[in-house]
Amino acid sequence: MLHGKIGSNIYHLVLVLSFKVIVVLCTDFNSSFSPDHIQYLQLETKKLFEHAWDSYIEYGFPADEVRPITCEPYGPDYNNVEDTVRNDALGNVSSTVLDNLDSLVIFEEWDQLEAMLEYLKHKQDLFEQDTIVQIFELSIRSLGGLLSAHLLLTDITNKKYAPEKFTKLKEISDKYDGFLLELAYDLGLRLIPAYKTSSRVPVPRINLAKGVLHVPAHLQRDACTSGATTPVLEFTLLSRLTGDPQFEHFSQMTFWKLWSSKSKLNFLPMTIDPIENQWKDAITGIGASIDSFYEYAAKASIIFNDDYMWSVFKTSYKALLTHSAHGGGPNEGSMIFRNVGIHDGVIYGDWIDSLGAFWTGVQVLTGQLKDAVKTHMVYLKIWDYFESIPERWIFAHYTKQDKPAEDFSNIIALEWYPLRPEFIESTYYLYRATKDPMYLQIGERILNVFKTRFKAKCGFSGLQDVRTGQRQNRMETFVMGETLKYLYLLFDVNDDIFLHNNYLMGSKNWVFSTEAHPLWLSKHIHPTHKVKFSDDDSKEVISLRQPMFQQFLSIIHSYDSRRENLFQSEEKLYYRNITLPTVRHFKVPNLKSMYKKDPFKDRFNTCEISPFKSNGNPFLKSGYYEWNRLFNADFAFQDSLVRPDYLSKSHLDGSYIELTKSFYDKYTMFSKGNNTFFLQCPVMSNTEKYELFMGDIKGINEIEVSRLYYKKQQAANITNEISPVIDGDFWIPEINALRVIIEKLADGKIDSYNQLITHEYIRSIRIDDYDNESTCDSKGNEQANVGHSGRDINIALRLVKINGVHVPAGSIVWTMPFERHIPEPGKDSLIDITSDNRVILQGNVIENLMVWYG
Ligand SMILES: *[C@@H]1O[C@H](CO)[C@@H](O)[C@H](O)[C@H]1NC(C)=O
Ligand SMILES: *[C@@H]1O[C@H](CO)[C@@H](O)[C@H](O)[C@H]1NC(C)=O
Ligand SMILES: *[C@@H]1O[C@H](CO)[C@@H](O)[C@H](O)[C@H]1NC(C)=O
Ligand SMILES: *[C@@H]1O[C@H](CO)[C@@H](O)[C@H](O)[C@H]1NC(C)=O
Ligand SMILES: *[C@@H]1O[C@H](CO)[C@@H](O)[C@H](O)[C@H]1NC(C)=O
Ligand SMILES: *[C@@H]1O[C@H](CO)[C@@H](O)[C@H](O)[C@H]1NC(C)=O
Repeated sequence: MLHGKIGSNIYHLVLVLSFKVIVVLCTDFNSSFSPDHIQYLQLETKKLFEHAWDSYIEYGFPADEVRPITCEPYGPDYNNVEDTVRNDALGNVSSTVLDNLDSLVIFEEWDQLEAMLEYLKHKQDLFEQDTIVQIFELSIRSLGGLLSAHLLLTDITNKKYAPEKFTKLKEISDKYDGFLLELAYDLGLRLIPAYKTSSRVPVPRINLAKGVLHVPAHLQRDACTSGATTPVLEFTLLSRLTGDPQFEHFSQMTFWKLWSSKSKLNFLPMTIDPIENQWKDAITGIGASIDSFYEYAAKASIIFNDDYMWSVFKTSYKALLTHSAHGGGPNEGSMIFRNVGIHDGVIYGDWIDSLGAFWTGVQVLTGQLKDAVKTHMVYLKIWDYFESIPERWIFAHYTKQDKPAEDFSNIIALEWYPLRPEFIESTYYLYRATKDPMYLQIGERILNVFKTRFKAKCGFSGLQDVRTGQRQNRMETFVMGETLKYLYLLFDVNDDIFLHNNYLMGSKNWVFSTEAHPLWLSKHIHPTHKVKFSDDDSKEVISLRQPMFQQFLSIIHSYDSRRENLFQSEEKLYYRNITLPTVRHFKVPNLKSMYKKDPFKDRFNTCEISPFKSNGNPFLKSGYYEWNRLFNADFAFQDSLVRPDYLSKSHLDGSYIELTKSFYDKYTMFSKGNNTFFLQCPVMSNTEKYELFMGDIKGINEIEVSRLYYKKQQAANITNEISPVIDGDFWIPEINALRVIIEKLADGKIDSYNQLITHEYIRSIRIDDYDNESTCDSKGNEQANVGHSGRDINIALRLVKINGVHVPAGSIVWTMPFERHIPEPGKDSLIDITSDNRVILQGNVIENLMVWYG
């Protein structure tokens, strides 16, 4: 049986098991996720894959893609080289095939795999194409696909007792002679000249047959950080597998050169001009143009066991937590990573990319599970409302409130959804890490939308406009290669797919590439080519000053002056030259029984466990319903979550995935009658919060922020030491180079710890204003509002986040004594200290920032 012949129609389904036949009469399993239900979901996903694949083979092959609505082949536009949106990923190289060889293995489509191998075996000139493609796209889709397939065919079934169902794969592997690696090598040789530039920064595009110099120079001006750095993983692997070191050499050189140009805040910008050797902007984030830079620093560290790459990831993640993260605190239900200036950390823009949904997967992989759940939550809500993810969504449009929210221009900056995989990919990672059934429910809903709205005659078509539901006549190679693959892997709860098989894969450092190709490197894999690398090879560079580039120099020099030169000296080697920021260490005076800890240190040395498993039996229970911040994001982003009209008639059960009735009924079953409050959430905090810089933010990586803990052996003595310090308090030697979030506490407000602020509480913080001064009038009534400084004494401030670390309720941030600033009469002191040692900033007392006089 080839494909697509499972079950006769969607209501009556016959599942053929190895030992018996089960007839399931109703496909409505009502979110049971029983073994039958799971098997049904797997088969339905396989049917979707087969529909897409069959359509491609019948109407698209051997072109790059099939157009899902009109059933035509689709490839590069030979008449218009300027159409880079179309041409970048389409090289007339059968990219759907190259991007899906490993999908055929994962979906166990052995006949199709054999047929495609047969086709490629006789296409050794596959890449001899007069087309201009992007290095990045070809390396993640085609090169990654070939390398993955090569590994699958050489390093899976060679185990002695591979499960029986892989007999066919073993037969195919036995016949395989390594020609896919030859194809990969050929492609690598065609792509690598883009890296051999005098600036060491690759040009983004190349003509596959004719080389770099046959690309109009103006198409080479805009490169992005992802584009320049990402190939490092596939290229390094290509070098290790073939033995030809040039791919690793050049791509690593670029990677480390760019990293060494990071800003003082440890950020890289997003766009680069390789010809001028200059950054073109000073903004960073985690979305389009920079996403896979972080992803591959983490993944390359895993595959190649590379601590330097790991330190790039850690340093970047810390910088992002400090400057870009919004939300994510212990009392917040969502987390967004915003775009920020690389030098000043100032927030730039109020939107997030659909591509940014991948971040959750990287967070899970790097052990940041709590952040991952909250980052994913934002995309879950977006899916709830749009049944898709707009390419660019505006999460806060407070600056443009003149337009009504229903006018989507306030909400959606880029309106398409080309069936991108990132949200389902992240859902898959979260399911593997938590086993919470909510993620299966998300998968089932997405499956249903694919079966109904996204299905087209010849494959699946995404949305040109999520506001109107207008369709796109395109099925990019990642629809099968990533979106459907991750959905299928999500439903593999019993680890039947070989990737989840511990015996086959357990000993490999495998990761999914950014295009969902499983990649790894084992010690016993020997290079196939022994190529000697001489110093001369590294000098074989293309001068970006040659005549054909010269004609563009006049344009180049008219560019604005905010751009910075990447490097003064072009020939300097930056290969793996990492100097991690050093933190000056201060002693905590007279607090000998305590030690200090870097709040980021353990973060990356341990993996967080599921935040959902703590409450006992996970059977038929979703931790989401015990999490009282499940609806926090709905409040936080209420103006940006609006359901388009055309979706309100959806037949799907409810608009909220997390409120699907059948799921809710089952997965709260064993918790009912308990005191847990289901579907209620704490009142949202209504205090004002300000994000502030204190001192010179550029020094942020040289200033210590640590946490204080009592030494264990001293524990018995703590009670003897008269100390107001408690475990987990913070220590900062000076109030400088800090990025903080400050909350304004006022009578009657709910604070971010969900407490009601009372007048008495403010009084207890501002004792000097209330107890020393006469704040009572002649009749003994308390005079509110103004203290001696003329300040509003009904408010106090609180630090809730400091240099990327959330300050928990009750914690104090301690600092060294400083010189008090004596104000002119009648004016606020700039900085002062209260009689109970709290810091006063411009007349405002800070509740939890205190001076330590030890
Ligand atoms: C699913 O739920 C609906 C209504 O709640 C019910 O009518 C139907 O019988 C259920 N199906 C199964 C298989 O339990
Ligand atoms: C595209 O590739 C095919 C081989 O797969 C080749 O026959 C055809 O000529 C190519 N198209 C163009 C326009 O070069
Ligand atoms: C490494 O970086 C440091 C600081 O950026 C610099 O002083 C040093 O010269 C670099 N070493 C090499 C070999 O480039
Ligand atoms: C109710 O739930 C809470 C927290 O979920 C748990 O600590 C408690 O033991 C439960 N009580 C009963 C009677 O199950
Ligand atoms: C308590 O402190 C004293 C003096 O600092 C020390 O001698 C003693 O060993 C400590 N006790 C414990 C249990 O650590
Ligand atoms: C408030 O009283 C304390 C002692 O209770 C004293 O040390 C402090 O200087 C007084 N502050 C002012 C502003 O008078």
